[in-house]
Amino acid sequence: MAGMTVLVVGGGGREHALCLGLADSQSIGEIHCAPGNAGTAQLATNHVFTDTTDLVHLAFQLDVDFVVAGPEAPLCEGLADLLAKMDIPCFGPVAALARLEGSKLHAKQVMAANNVPTADFHILNKDSDIGAALDDFSGNPWVVKRDVLAGGKGVVVTSKRGEAMDFISDSINKDGRVLLEDFLPGQETSLLVIMDGSSYVCLPASQDHKREFEGDKGRNTGGMGAYAPAPCYTQEVQEKALQRIVKPMHAALSAKRVPYRGVLYIGLMIDENNDPYVVEFNVRFGDPECQITIPLISSDLGELLFSAAIDELKNIAVKFHDKHALTVVLAAENYPGPVEKGRPITIGNHEVEHSWVNHAGTKMSEDGLISNGGRVLAATGMGDSLQEAAKKAYDLIEKINLKGSHYRRDIGHRAL
Ligand code: AMP
Ligand code: GLY
Repeated sequence: MAGMTVLVVGGGGREHALCLGLADSQSIGEIHCAPGNAGTAQLATNHVFTDTTDLVHLAFQLDVDFVVAGPEAPLCEGLADLLAKMDIPCFGPVAALARLEGSKLHAKQVMAANNVPTADFHILNKDSDIGAALDDFSGNPWVVKRDVLAGGKGVVVTSKRGEAMDFISDSINKDGRVLLEDFLPGQETSLLVIMDGSSYVCLPASQDHKREFEGDKGRNTGGMGAYAPAPCYTQEVQEKALQRIVKPMHAALSAKRVPYRGVLYIGLMIDENNDPYVVEFNVRFGDPECQITIPLISSDLGELLFSAAIDELKNIAVKFHDKHALTVVLAAENYPGPVEKGRPITIGNHEVEHSWVNHAGTKMSEDGLISNGGRVLAATGMGDSLQEAAKKAYDLIEKINLKGSHYRRDIGHRAL
């Protein structure tokens, strides 16, 4: 397992983080990325593609040893299934298992079948008495979830009855049904578990900051920053999460004819009794959780991802740095609303060890680096303490210039 060729699918901060880790791997000789961004272009050959079938052709033409899927959409569309037909291993599950993210109802059914703790829920459709359902679930904010892949816009948590009502009606009109679930109070943590038919490996738990402004205020975003390890994921929580969630999920998913091969993102809510509940499953690395979790792996990332793609996870040893990592996202003006692309970016000199820039929505133009998305870049720091990691990330982000951009100044505040 040396000098392998890999194709990374995606073009955000997560995929740049994956490329950075793969570039650092003895097992990897050549990296391709589709579509990639200005950051991946420094480590990989970027490729354009039209659709999932085109991606499979690309993987075949490049004669890659395996494919690493960044985002969920191609997996839900059957990327891993199509690659399997060409005998190309894929880090990322087949479509039937990617439904854990693609359908909230399916995820609830799998959890129920395996006694995995999660919030109780109701399915509402056009015949439901929405007013009565809202009364039944009142007393806390209402949590309403669409049953489709909605690119991070499928969930509303609100104390405003009118807003809940409108989102429910709108979702039923679009999708035929919607889930109304119990509000779970507590601390949220993201647990990334790499798994295949032979074994599983939990990566250090992290905490994401989803709201746009400091103090967790404002609109929901894809994630404005993250840090790991998350102190609320204590030894006690870890033991409970393993027994109640990770082991039963791995047992169920590895028993499939084609086992789950990839990373299962378990969004956890930890309540005041230190009991963990599943808020969501994603079938991919989190973004920006990936940017601070991958650097904490000290063993070969290429070997880890390839092993999981071919059911050999049980045969490798995965090691971690005893360190902390923190990343701060630099977002374009008006993000998470519509943004203007193509603005020039300058990055000042930063020669500080264990701090680096993660590219997300960036592109190289004739005139230099320009913005190309809502979350443009992230500054990441790693250190012996969370304080040190935060200082490095914040020192670095101040060196980045992009007109109108904004970032949160309180990433890691709960732990700091
Ligand atoms: P999801 O896409 O299911 O992760 O939901 C998006 C966000 O909504 C989560 O990250 C939580 O912050 C919040 N959320 C989802 N479900 C619940 C719940 N049952 N109780 C409290 N907050 C929730
Ligand atoms: N950062 C949250 C996610 O990737 O879903």
